Amino acid sequence: MEYSRGVAAPQASRPRRPVDPAAPLAGAEIVVAIGGGIAVYKIAEVVRRLTKADAKVQVVMTPRATEFVGPTTFQTLSGRRVFTDPWDLGQDSEIGHIQIADRAELVIVAPATANLIARMAAGMADDAVTSVLLATRAPVLVAPSMNVNMWNHPLTQKNLATLVSIGTHVVEPGEGFLACRWIGKGRLAEPADIVEAAAHVLAPKDLAGRRVVVSAGPTYEPIDPVRFLGNRSSGKMGFALAAAAARRGALVTLVAGPVAEPDPHGVAVQRVETAVQLQAAVEAAATGADAVIMAAAVGDFRAASEAAHKLKRGELGATVALELTANPDVLAGLGAARAARGGAGPVLVGFAAETRDVVRYARAKLAAKGVDLIVANDVTEPDAGFAVDTNRVVLVDAAGEEALPVAPKRVVAHRILDRVTALVAARAT
Ligand SMILES: Cc1cc2nc3c(=O)[nH]c(=O)nc-3n(C[C@H](O)[C@H](O)[C@H](O)COP(=O)(O)O)c2cc1C
Repeated sequence: MEYSRGVAAPQASRPRRPVDPAAPLAGAEIVVAIGGGIAVYKIAEVVRRLTKADAKVQVVMTPRATEFVGPTTFQTLSGRRVFTDPWDLGQDSEIGHIQIADRAELVIVAPATANLIARMAAGMADDAVTSVLLATRAPVLVAPSMNVNMWNHPLTQKNLATLVSIGTHVVEPGEGFLACRWIGKGRLAEPADIVEAAAHVLAPKDLAGRRVVVSAGPTYEPIDPVRFLGNRSSGKMGFALAAAAARRGALVTLVAGPVAEPDPHGVAVQRVETAVQLQAAVEAAATGADAVIMAAAVGDFRAASEAAHKLKRGELGATVALELTANPDVLAGLGAARAARGGAGPVLVGFAAETRDVVRYARAKLAAKGVDLIVANDVTEPDAGFAVDTNRVVLVDAAGEEALPVAPKRVVAHRILDRVTALVAARAT
Protein backbone atom coordinates (compact mmCIF):
# COMPACT_ATOMS: atom_id res chain seq x y z
CA MET A 1 0.00 0.00 0.00
CA GLU A 2 1.23 3.49 -0.89
CA TYR A 3 1.10 6.16 1.81
CA SER A 4 1.13 9.57 0.17
CA ARG A 5 -0.34 13.06 0.46
CA GLY A 6 1.64 13.69 3.63
CA VAL A 7 0.04 10.78 5.50
CA ALA A 8 2.65 9.07 7.67
CA ALA A 9 2.97 5.35 7.17
CA PRO A 10 2.18 3.35 10.30
CA GLN A 11 5.32 2.08 12.01
CA ALA A 12 6.37 -1.44 11.15
CA SER A 13 5.12 -4.08 13.52
CA ARG A 14 6.99 -4.37 16.77
CA PRO A 15 10.01 -6.66 16.86
CA ARG A 16 8.93 -10.18 17.73
CA ARG A 17 10.36 -12.27 20.53
CA PRO A 18 11.66 -15.71 19.44
CA VAL A 19 8.63 -17.96 18.94
CA ASP A 20 8.63 -21.77 19.07
CA PRO A 21 6.50 -22.93 16.12
CA ALA A 22 5.29 -25.83 18.26
CA ALA A 23 3.81 -23.41 20.83
CA PRO A 24 3.41 -19.99 19.21
CA LEU A 25 0.67 -18.93 21.63
CA ALA A 26 2.77 -19.46 24.78
CA GLY A 27 3.55 -16.10 26.35
CA ALA A 28 1.92 -14.16 23.49
CA GLU A 29 -0.02 -10.98 24.29
CA ILE A 30 -3.34 -11.54 22.53
CA VAL A 31 -6.27 -9.13 22.41
CA VAL A 32 -9.65 -10.80 21.94
CA ALA A 33 -11.95 -8.10 20.55
CA ILE A 34 -15.61 -9.10 20.79
CA GLY A 35 -18.41 -7.70 18.59
CA GLY A 36 -22.13 -7.74 19.33
CA GLY A 37 -23.42 -10.96 17.75
CA ILE A 38 -25.23 -14.03 19.03
CA ALA A 39 -21.98 -16.07 18.93
CA VAL A 40 -20.41 -14.09 21.82
CA TYR A 41 -20.98 -17.06 24.13
CA LYS A 42 -18.61 -19.15 22.00
CA ILE A 43 -15.78 -16.70 22.67
CA ALA A 44 -15.60 -17.91 26.27
CA GLU A 45 -14.24 -21.16 24.82
CA VAL A 46 -11.79 -19.25 22.60
CA VAL A 47 -10.44 -17.37 25.64
CA ARG A 48 -10.23 -20.57 27.66
CA ARG A 49 -8.26 -22.34 24.96
CA LEU A 50 -5.90 -19.38 24.56
CA THR A 51 -5.15 -19.19 28.28
CA LYS A 52 -4.71 -22.97 28.38
CA ALA A 53 -2.04 -22.51 25.69
CA ASP A 54 -0.35 -19.98 28.06
CA ALA A 55 -1.30 -16.88 26.06
CA LYS A 56 -1.83 -13.61 27.95
CA VAL A 57 -5.33 -12.56 26.99
CA GLN A 58 -6.81 -9.06 27.13
CA VAL A 59 -10.51 -8.99 26.28
CA VAL A 60 -12.03 -5.87 24.72
CA MET A 61 -15.77 -5.66 24.04
CA THR A 62 -18.10 -3.41 22.07
CA PRO A 63 -21.10 -2.07 24.05
CA ARG A 64 -23.42 -4.36 22.06
CA ALA A 65 -21.23 -7.39 22.85
CA THR A 66 -21.71 -6.85 26.59
CA GLU A 67 -25.47 -7.22 26.09
CA PHE A 68 -24.99 -10.86 25.00
CA VAL A 69 -22.51 -12.00 27.70
CA GLY A 70 -21.32 -9.84 30.58
CA PRO A 71 -17.64 -8.89 31.00
CA THR A 72 -17.49 -10.87 34.27
CA THR A 73 -17.31 -14.15 32.33
CA PHE A 74 -14.36 -12.95 30.26
CA GLN A 75 -12.64 -11.29 33.22
CA THR A 76 -12.80 -14.59 35.11
CA LEU A 77 -11.47 -16.61 32.17
CA SER A 78 -8.70 -14.17 31.19
CA GLY A 79 -7.71 -13.02 34.68
CA ARG A 80 -7.69 -9.42 33.45
CA ARG A 81 -10.17 -6.58 33.66
CA VAL A 82 -12.18 -6.37 30.44
CA PHE A 83 -11.89 -3.12 28.50
CA THR A 84 -15.28 -1.90 27.28
CA ASP A 85 -15.26 1.90 27.32
CA PRO A 86 -12.45 4.33 26.44
CA TRP A 87 -14.63 7.12 27.89
CA ASP A 88 -14.60 5.49 31.33
CA LEU A 89 -11.62 7.32 32.83
CA GLY A 90 -11.24 4.63 35.50
CA GLN A 91 -10.77 1.93 32.86
CA ASP A 92 -8.62 4.03 30.57
CA SER A 93 -6.22 5.18 33.29
CA GLU A 94 -5.84 1.58 34.43
CA ILE A 95 -5.15 -0.08 31.08
CA GLY A 96 -5.73 2.43 28.26
CA HIS A 97 -6.63 1.55 24.71
CA ILE A 98 -3.29 2.75 23.31
CA GLN A 99 -1.36 0.59 25.78
CA ILE A 100 -3.54 -2.44 24.94
CA ALA A 101 -3.07 -1.80 21.22
CA ASP A 102 0.66 -1.31 21.57
CA ARG A 103 1.52 -4.40 23.59
CA ALA A 104 -0.65 -6.73 21.48
CA GLU A 105 1.11 -9.33 19.36
CA LEU A 106 -2.18 -10.37 17.76
CA VAL A 107 -5.75 -9.07 17.79
CA ILE A 108 -8.52 -11.64 17.27
CA VAL A 109 -11.89 -10.09 16.35
CA ALA A 110 -14.64 -12.59 17.12
CA PRO A 111 -17.47 -12.63 16.50
CA ALA A 112 -16.85 -10.04 13.81
CA THR A 113 -20.36 -8.75 13.13
CA ALA A 114 -21.35 -7.20 9.80
CA ASN A 115 -21.52 -3.85 11.57
CA LEU A 116 -18.09 -4.21 13.17
CA ILE A 117 -16.49 -5.30 9.89
CA ALA A 118 -18.01 -2.20 8.25
CA ARG A 119 -16.68 0.08 11.00
CA MET A 120 -13.22 -1.51 10.73
CA ALA A 121 -13.17 -1.12 6.94
CA ALA A 122 -14.18 2.53 7.31
CA GLY A 123 -11.30 3.14 9.74
CA MET A 124 -13.59 4.22 12.55
CA ALA A 125 -12.52 4.42 16.19
CA ASP A 126 -15.81 5.01 17.96
CA ASP A 127 -15.66 2.39 20.73
CA ALA A 128 -13.17 0.29 22.70
CA VAL A 129 -12.74 -2.36 19.97
CA THR A 130 -12.31 -0.08 16.97
CA SER A 131 -10.05 2.31 18.96
CA VAL A 132 -7.70 -0.57 19.83
CA LEU A 133 -7.83 -1.90 16.25
CA LEU A 134 -6.92 1.44 14.70
CA ALA A 135 -4.05 1.99 17.13
CA THR A 136 -2.44 -1.43 16.91
CA ARG A 137 0.48 -2.53 14.76
CA ALA A 138 -0.21 -6.20 15.53
CA PRO A 139 -1.64 -8.60 12.94
CA VAL A 140 -5.42 -8.84 13.03
CA LEU A 141 -7.47 -12.04 12.61
CA VAL A 142 -11.23 -11.68 12.09
CA ALA A 143 -13.77 -14.47 12.58
CA PRO A 144 -17.03 -13.29 11.01
CA SER A 145 -20.42 -14.51 12.21
CA MET A 146 -23.77 -13.35 10.89
CA ASN A 147 -26.97 -14.19 9.05
CA VAL A 148 -26.32 -15.73 5.60
CA ASN A 149 -27.87 -12.76 3.76
CA MET A 150 -25.76 -10.28 5.74
CA TRP A 151 -22.72 -12.40 4.86
CA ASN A 152 -23.59 -12.53 1.16
CA HIS A 153 -24.38 -8.81 0.97
CA PRO A 154 -22.02 -7.11 -1.49
CA LEU A 155 -21.17 -4.43 1.07
CA THR A 156 -20.08 -7.01 3.67
CA GLN A 157 -17.96 -8.77 1.05
CA LYS A 158 -16.52 -5.43 -0.10
CA ASN A 159 -15.69 -4.45 3.49
CA LEU A 160 -14.01 -7.80 4.10
CA ALA A 161 -12.03 -7.45 0.87
CA THR A 162 -10.87 -4.03 2.10
CA LEU A 163 -9.67 -5.61 5.35
CA VAL A 164 -7.91 -8.43 3.47
CA SER A 165 -6.21 -5.86 1.20
CA ILE A 166 -4.49 -4.32 4.23
CA GLY A 167 -3.28 -7.71 5.45
CA THR A 168 -6.10 -8.75 7.79
CA HIS A 169 -6.41 -12.52 8.22
CA VAL A 170 -9.86 -14.12 8.03
CA VAL A 171 -11.16 -17.36 9.56
CA GLU A 172 -14.05 -18.11 7.22
CA PRO A 173 -17.43 -18.81 8.81
CA GLY A 174 -18.89 -22.27 8.49
CA GLU A 175 -22.10 -23.39 6.82
CA GLY A 176 -25.08 -24.85 8.60
CA PHE A 177 -28.07 -24.03 10.73
CA LEU A 178 -27.70 -20.43 11.94
CA ALA A 179 -29.02 -18.91 15.16
CA CYS A 180 -31.39 -16.81 13.02
CA ARG A 181 -32.88 -20.16 11.85
CA TRP A 182 -31.59 -19.69 8.29
CA ILE A 183 -29.40 -22.37 6.76
CA GLY A 184 -26.26 -21.18 4.98
CA LYS A 185 -22.86 -19.63 5.48
CA GLY A 186 -22.34 -17.35 8.45
CA ARG A 187 -21.80 -19.57 11.49
CA LEU A 188 -18.76 -18.60 13.57
CA ALA A 189 -15.78 -20.90 12.93
CA GLU A 190 -15.26 -23.45 15.72
CA PRO A 191 -13.27 -22.07 18.70
CA ALA A 192 -10.54 -24.70 18.09
CA ASP A 193 -10.19 -23.50 14.49
CA ILE A 194 -10.00 -19.85 15.57
CA VAL A 195 -7.23 -20.70 18.05
CA GLU A 196 -5.39 -22.78 15.41
CA ALA A 197 -5.64 -19.84 12.99
CA ALA A 198 -4.15 -17.60 15.70
CA ALA A 199 -1.25 -20.04 16.15
CA HIS A 200 -0.85 -20.03 12.38
CA VAL A 201 -0.54 -16.23 12.26
CA LEU A 202 1.96 -16.10 15.13
CA ALA A 203 4.20 -19.00 14.07
CA PRO A 204 7.54 -18.15 12.42
CA LYS A 205 7.40 -18.70 8.66
CA ASP A 206 10.78 -20.38 8.22
CA LEU A 207 9.40 -22.65 5.46
CA ALA A 208 7.72 -19.78 3.56
CA GLY A 209 7.42 -20.58 -0.12
CA ARG A 210 8.98 -24.04 0.29
CA ARG A 211 7.16 -27.00 -1.26
CA VAL A 212 6.88 -29.91 1.13
CA VAL A 213 5.36 -33.32 0.35
CA VAL A 214 4.28 -35.55 3.23
CA SER A 215 2.89 -39.07 3.01
CA ALA A 216 0.84 -40.49 5.87
CA GLY A 217 -1.16 -43.47 7.00
CA PRO A 218 -1.26 -47.11 5.96
CA THR A 219 -1.93 -48.58 2.55
CA TYR A 220 -4.71 -51.07 1.93
CA GLU A 221 -3.89 -53.80 -0.56
CA PRO A 222 -7.06 -55.53 -1.75
CA ILE A 223 -7.43 -59.31 -1.57
CA ASP A 224 -11.03 -59.36 -2.79
CA PRO A 225 -13.76 -56.67 -2.90
CA VAL A 226 -14.24 -56.75 0.90
CA ARG A 227 -10.84 -57.77 2.35
CA PHE A 228 -7.45 -56.12 2.31
CA LEU A 229 -3.92 -56.36 3.70
CA GLY A 230 -3.27 -53.30 5.86
CA ASN A 231 -1.31 -52.17 8.88
CA ARG A 232 -1.88 -50.33 12.15
CA SER A 233 -0.67 -46.87 11.05
CA SER A 234 -3.13 -44.16 12.15
CA GLY A 235 -1.63 -41.39 10.00
CA LYS A 236 -1.42 -39.09 13.05
CA MET A 237 2.33 -38.42 12.69
CA GLY A 238 2.13 -37.59 9.00
CA PHE A 239 -0.94 -35.39 9.45
CA ALA A 240 0.82 -33.58 12.30
CA LEU A 241 3.84 -33.00 10.04
CA ALA A 242 1.69 -31.64 7.22
CA ALA A 243 -0.17 -29.26 9.57
CA ALA A 244 3.10 -28.13 11.16
CA ALA A 245 4.77 -27.44 7.80
CA ALA A 246 1.73 -25.43 6.66
CA ARG A 247 1.84 -23.43 9.90
CA ARG A 248 5.47 -22.58 9.08
CA GLY A 249 4.51 -21.22 5.66
CA ALA A 250 5.22 -24.23 3.41
CA LEU A 251 3.03 -25.18 0.45
CA VAL A 252 2.14 -28.68 1.57
CA THR A 253 0.86 -31.68 -0.37
CA LEU A 254 -0.25 -34.54 1.86
CA VAL A 255 -0.65 -37.94 0.24
CA ALA A 256 -2.74 -39.91 2.71
CA GLY A 257 -3.67 -43.55 2.89
CA PRO A 258 -7.06 -44.59 4.32
CA VAL A 259 -7.34 -42.91 7.74
CA ALA A 260 -10.08 -41.03 9.58
CA GLU A 261 -8.01 -37.86 10.24
CA PRO A 262 -9.62 -34.67 8.85
CA ASP A 263 -7.76 -32.58 6.23
CA PRO A 264 -5.33 -30.22 8.01
CA HIS A 265 -5.97 -26.51 7.48
CA GLY A 266 -4.22 -25.05 4.44
CA VAL A 267 -2.92 -28.39 3.12
CA ALA A 268 -3.65 -29.93 -0.30
CA VAL A 269 -4.68 -33.50 0.51
CA GLN A 270 -4.70 -36.41 -1.95
CA ARG A 271 -6.34 -39.56 -0.62
CA VAL A 272 -5.01 -42.87 -1.94
CA GLU A 273 -5.48 -46.50 -0.98
CA THR A 274 -2.72 -48.76 -2.34
CA ALA A 275 1.07 -48.53 -2.37
CA VAL A 276 1.08 -48.19 -6.16
CA GLN A 277 -1.37 -45.25 -5.98
CA LEU A 278 0.68 -43.67 -3.18
CA GLN A 279 3.87 -44.01 -5.22
CA ALA A 280 2.32 -42.30 -8.25
CA ALA A 281 0.94 -39.42 -6.15
CA VAL A 282 4.17 -38.88 -4.17
CA GLU A 283 6.40 -39.00 -7.25
CA ALA A 284 4.20 -36.51 -9.10
CA ALA A 285 4.17 -34.12 -6.12
CA ALA A 286 7.92 -34.55 -5.53
CA THR A 287 8.80 -32.89 -8.84
CA GLY A 288 10.04 -29.44 -7.89
CA ALA A 289 9.51 -30.04 -4.16
CA ASP A 290 12.03 -28.88 -1.55
CA ALA A 291 11.42 -31.80 0.82
CA VAL A 292 9.62 -35.15 0.80
CA ILE A 293 8.80 -36.68 4.17
CA MET A 294 7.68 -40.29 3.90
CA ALA A 295 5.75 -40.89 7.12
CA ALA A 296 3.33 -43.36 5.50
CA ALA A 297 3.53 -47.02 6.48
CA VAL A 298 3.53 -48.30 2.92
CA GLY A 299 2.66 -52.00 2.72
CA ASP A 300 5.66 -54.06 1.62
CA PHE A 301 3.51 -56.63 -0.20
CA ARG A 302 0.22 -56.85 -2.06
CA ALA A 303 -1.87 -59.84 -3.12
CA ALA A 304 -0.48 -61.16 -6.41
CA SER A 305 -4.00 -61.01 -7.79
CA GLU A 306 -7.24 -59.51 -6.52
CA ALA A 307 -10.24 -61.83 -6.59
CA ALA A 308 -13.11 -60.37 -8.60
CA HIS A 309 -15.68 -61.65 -6.08
CA LYS A 310 -15.69 -62.20 -2.34
CA LEU A 311 -13.78 -65.36 -1.41
CA LYS A 312 -16.25 -67.76 0.24
CA ARG A 313 -15.31 -69.65 3.39
CA GLY A 314 -17.15 -72.76 2.20
CA GLU A 315 -15.27 -72.84 -1.11
CA LEU A 316 -11.83 -72.64 0.57
CA GLY A 317 -10.03 -75.26 2.62
CA ALA A 318 -9.01 -75.06 6.29
CA THR A 319 -5.75 -73.33 5.29
CA VAL A 320 -5.44 -70.83 2.50
CA ALA A 321 -2.21 -69.77 0.80
CA LEU A 322 -2.13 -66.16 -0.36
CA GLU A 323 0.50 -65.33 -2.94
CA LEU A 324 2.12 -61.94 -2.39
CA THR A 325 4.04 -59.60 -4.68
CA ALA A 326 6.52 -57.00 -3.40
CA ASN A 327 5.29 -53.42 -3.58
CA PRO A 328 7.52 -50.65 -4.93
CA ASP A 329 9.91 -49.14 -2.35
CA VAL A 330 8.81 -45.51 -2.74
CA LEU A 331 11.53 -43.95 -0.56
CA ALA A 332 14.35 -45.96 -2.17
CA GLY A 333 12.97 -44.96 -5.57
CA LEU A 334 13.12 -41.26 -4.65
CA GLY A 335 16.67 -41.70 -3.31
CA ALA A 336 17.82 -43.51 -6.46
CA ALA A 337 16.21 -40.92 -8.73
CA ARG A 338 17.96 -38.14 -6.84
CA ALA A 339 21.30 -39.94 -7.04
CA ALA A 340 20.77 -40.39 -10.80
CA ARG A 341 20.36 -36.60 -11.07
CA GLY A 342 23.73 -36.10 -9.39
CA GLY A 343 22.10 -35.33 -6.05
CA ALA A 344 19.76 -32.63 -7.37
CA GLY A 345 16.30 -32.83 -5.84
CA PRO A 346 14.40 -32.57 -2.62
CA VAL A 347 15.55 -33.28 0.91
CA LEU A 348 14.41 -36.84 1.64
CA VAL A 349 13.21 -38.00 5.04
CA GLY A 350 12.14 -41.55 5.87
CA PHE A 351 10.55 -43.18 8.90
CA ALA A 352 11.58 -46.47 10.43
CA ALA A 353 9.02 -48.20 12.62
CA GLU A 354 10.96 -50.96 14.32
CA THR A 355 10.34 -53.43 17.10
CA ARG A 356 14.03 -53.96 18.10
CA ASP A 357 17.54 -52.58 17.38
CA VAL A 358 15.92 -49.32 16.32
CA VAL A 359 19.03 -47.22 15.68
CA ARG A 360 20.98 -49.97 13.93
CA TYR A 361 18.10 -50.62 11.49
CA ALA A 362 17.58 -46.87 10.99
CA ARG A 363 21.23 -46.34 10.10
CA ALA A 364 21.11 -49.22 7.62
CA LYS A 365 17.95 -47.72 6.10
CA LEU A 366 19.58 -44.29 5.79
CA ALA A 367 22.40 -45.76 3.69
CA ALA A 368 20.31 -48.25 1.72
CA LYS A 369 17.73 -45.69 0.60
CA GLY A 370 20.13 -42.80 -0.01
CA VAL A 371 18.15 -40.30 2.11
CA ASP A 372 19.11 -37.40 4.41
CA LEU A 373 17.32 -38.26 7.64
CA ILE A 374 15.59 -41.24 9.21
CA VAL A 375 13.06 -40.74 11.99
CA ALA A 376 13.14 -43.98 13.93
CA ASN A 377 10.83 -45.23 16.62
CA ASP A 378 10.18 -48.40 18.53
CA VAL A 379 6.52 -49.10 17.89
CA THR A 380 6.35 -51.54 20.80
CA GLU A 381 6.79 -48.64 23.30
CA PRO A 382 3.41 -47.67 24.85
CA ASP A 383 3.98 -43.92 24.25
CA ALA A 384 5.30 -44.20 20.69
CA GLY A 385 4.32 -45.39 17.25
CA PHE A 386 0.91 -46.25 15.86
CA ALA A 387 -2.44 -44.87 17.02
CA VAL A 388 -1.19 -42.99 20.12
CA ASP A 389 -0.97 -39.19 20.27
CA THR A 390 2.62 -39.11 21.53
CA ASN A 391 5.85 -40.26 19.98
CA ARG A 392 9.41 -40.97 21.10
CA VAL A 393 11.79 -40.83 18.16
CA VAL A 394 15.49 -40.90 17.36
CA LEU A 395 16.69 -38.72 14.48
CA VAL A 396 19.42 -40.53 12.57
CA ASP A 397 21.52 -38.82 9.90
CA ALA A 398 25.05 -39.13 8.53
CA ALA A 399 26.42 -37.02 11.41
CA GLY A 400 24.91 -39.00 14.28
CA GLU A 401 21.80 -39.65 16.34
CA GLU A 402 19.57 -37.43 18.44
CA ALA A 403 17.00 -38.99 20.75
CA LEU A 404 14.06 -36.61 21.27
CA PRO A 405 12.08 -36.78 24.51
CA VAL A 406 8.58 -38.24 24.39
CA ALA A 407 6.14 -35.51 23.32
CA PRO A 408 2.81 -35.03 21.54
CA LYS A 409 3.10 -35.83 17.82
CA ARG A 410 2.39 -32.18 16.92
CA VAL A 411 5.48 -31.15 18.95
CA VAL A 412 7.64 -33.97 17.55
CA ALA A 413 6.53 -32.81 14.08
CA HIS A 414 8.07 -29.38 14.67
CA ARG A 415 11.32 -30.83 15.98
CA ILE A 416 11.56 -32.95 12.80
CA LEU A 417 10.77 -29.86 10.72
CA ASP A 418 13.51 -27.89 12.51
CA ARG A 419 15.92 -30.42 10.94
CA VAL A 420 14.15 -30.36 7.58
CA THR A 421 14.28 -26.54 7.51
CA ALA A 422 18.03 -26.60 8.12
CA LEU A 423 18.56 -29.32 5.48
CA VAL A 424 16.46 -27.41 2.90
CA ALA A 425 18.40 -24.19 3.59
CA ALA A 426 21.72 -26.07 3.31
CA ARG A 427 20.72 -27.59 -0.05
CA ALA A 428 19.55 -24.21 -1.33
CA THR A 429 22.99 -22.71 -0.69
C1 LIG B 1 -30.37 -11.01 19.17
C2 LIG B 1 -29.45 -10.39 18.17
C3 LIG B 1 -28.48 -11.16 17.56
C4 LIG B 1 -27.62 -10.60 16.63
N1 LIG B 1 -26.65 -11.39 16.05
C5 LIG B 1 -25.85 -10.86 15.12
C6 LIG B 1 -24.86 -11.66 14.48
O1 LIG B 1 -24.69 -12.85 14.78
N2 LIG B 1 -24.06 -11.09 13.55
C7 LIG B 1 -24.20 -9.78 13.19
O2 LIG B 1 -23.46 -9.34 12.32
N3 LIG B 1 -25.11 -9.00 13.79
C8 LIG B 1 -25.93 -9.49 14.74
N4 LIG B 1 -26.86 -8.70 15.34
C9 LIG B 1 -26.88 -7.28 15.01
C10 LIG B 1 -25.80 -6.56 15.79
O3 LIG B 1 -26.00 -6.77 17.18
C11 LIG B 1 -25.81 -5.06 15.49
O4 LIG B 1 -25.47 -4.83 14.13
C12 LIG B 1 -24.85 -4.34 16.40
O5 LIG B 1 -24.90 -2.97 16.11
C13 LIG B 1 -23.43 -4.84 16.20
O6 LIG B 1 -22.59 -4.20 17.10
P1 LIG B 1 -21.03 -4.22 17.01
O7 LIG B 1 -20.62 -3.32 15.89
O8 LIG B 1 -20.64 -3.72 18.32
O9 LIG B 1 -20.61 -5.63 16.75
C14 LIG B 1 -27.74 -9.23 16.30
C15 LIG B 1 -28.69 -8.46 16.93
C16 LIG B 1 -29.53 -9.01 17.83
C17 LIG B 1 -30.57 -8.14 18.49
